Amino acid sequence: MQFLELGKEHLTAVMDLEQKLFPEDAWSATSMASELDASHTYYLGVFDPELIGYAGLSTSAGSFSSDIQTIGIALESRGQGLGRMLMQHLVAKAKELGSEQLMLEVRADNQAAISLYLDLGFVQIDVRKRYYQPAGVDALIMRLPIKQPIVLGIESTCDETGVGIVQGNRLLANALHSSMDEHSKYGGVVPEVAARAHLEAIRPTLEKALAEAKLSMSDIDAIAVANGPGLAGALMVGIGAAKGLALAHNKPLYAVNHLVGHVGADVLERGAVELPTIALLVSGGHTSLLLVRHLLNDVELLGETIDDAAGEAFDKVARVLGLPYPGGPQIDRLAADGEVNIRFPRGLTLPKDMEKHRYDFSFSGLKTAVARNVEKAQDAGEDFSKADVAASFREAVVDVLLTKAINACKDFGVNRLLLGGGVVANARLREEAQKRCDANGIELRIPRFQLCTDNGAMIAALGSQLVMAGRQPSGLGFGSESTLEVTQVQTP
Ligand code: KG4
Ligand code: ZN
Repeated sequence: MQFLELGKEHLTAVMDLEQKLFPEDAWSATSMASELDASHTYYLGVFDPELIGYAGLSTSAGSFSSDIQTIGIALESRGQGLGRMLMQHLVAKAKELGSEQLMLEVRADNQAAISLYLDLGFVQIDVRKRYYQPAGVDALIMRLPIKQPIVLGIESTCDETGVGIVQGNRLLANALHSSMDEHSKYGGVVPEVAARAHLEAIRPTLEKALAEAKLSMSDIDAIAVANGPGLAGALMVGIGAAKGLALAHNKPLYAVNHLVGHVGADVLERGAVELPTIALLVSGGHTSLLLVRHLLNDVELLGETIDDAAGEAFDKVARVLGLPYPGGPQIDRLAADGEVNIRFPRGLTLPKDMEKHRYDFSFSGLKTAVARNVEKAQDAGEDFSKADVAASFREAVVDVLLTKAINACKDFGVNRLLLGGGVVANARLREEAQKRCDANGIELRIPRFQLCTDNGAMIAALGSQLVMAGRQPSGLGFGSESTLEVTQVQTP
């Protein structure tokens, strides 16, 4: 006997059984086909070797609730516990999807089914009178509450100390302390300063998160920590704190990938994972283009910057223009009054570069071009518009980022694009992303800003996905991994 997820290739077999089981009110082949094919449904069949039973689950994003759509077992295969096994699979699936309850309707005269559901923990919450026609039989509405794990996530890869708490796919707290101000006098993040700041901020940030969620450490089911990629000294502070908490409170600990955490943040917005997606992560530390087919099993790095990160380019160009750190918001503001009238280079977009670096980025040539342009004007004593330089520079960055991201969507036939990282604050990037996605039939996802920049909630969300999928914790043997590959979602 074999349990297999059903797709539309199983339509004929499912319809044969459906018509036998429900001669009066079988679904039409058309609606069954769309059910089997839909992304928000999960249908499971049992084969011996022919299809002898099936059951289906439906979840609507953001509802934190799943419904049993149907369940049927061939007459001659009843009495072997197949219905119970199918239901147990669907309960496990609902749990993995982050649902907080599972609902179903059952005929009031189907005593065998009702006692199975009661046995599985379902409780009757309502009756729909004479719901099943023409017989006029009542429907009982039953509900199984599902307790999702509460996961605390710790983030310390760069200059933000983040502690977040999630339950399943639901955000409970997102406390943050940034050491950005301390770095501003150096014009960029100083690793030792960042590590020191994490050390001071970690405890108050943890307390703030627990207070925000109105929880204590004893309520937490698991801890997740970002162990890379990032600054070694900064990472060590978060990892040390996570290990100490895990040991002291006897909690399972998961070491997770910071970059994949950025993708995981979207779960907290939707209440569900919707994949596949292309993800463009742009911050002061990274510029990466990912193809995510499965959050835990299949994350592929399509390309990344070969020199400066996008945010770093903003910070460096800001310095050239005499603006303070961090430069991104400064340039964004200045550019609003400028005109795009200088054609700055778009790194790695020439045909020969596109062969080898189709999805990679380079911003150092652009930065040099801006510096040269400004120097030339200054040397010549010309009156030049900083706002025009800022607008033209910003346009070049946005153009390159989106050209490559949209190319990736088209090349891989993925009509979803997720943005993450501090540079997503950029007004022009958001506007142009929406325009190009609309033009190409791509769904654009931009989580709220506190979930785009580095934060603990995204680490907790990824940890929670691992717990819900039944993954083993990492133990205490892992260390910081500055250059952790994005394909490694969890470090064992
Ligand atoms: O994600 P984030 O807060 O921290 C990390 O670097 O990991 O990103 C900060 C970066 C800085 O380089 C900053 O200049 C850039 O994001 N940034 C912006 C804007 N706001 C912040 N870049 C362009 N436009 C903005 N409005
Ligand atoms: Zn980040």
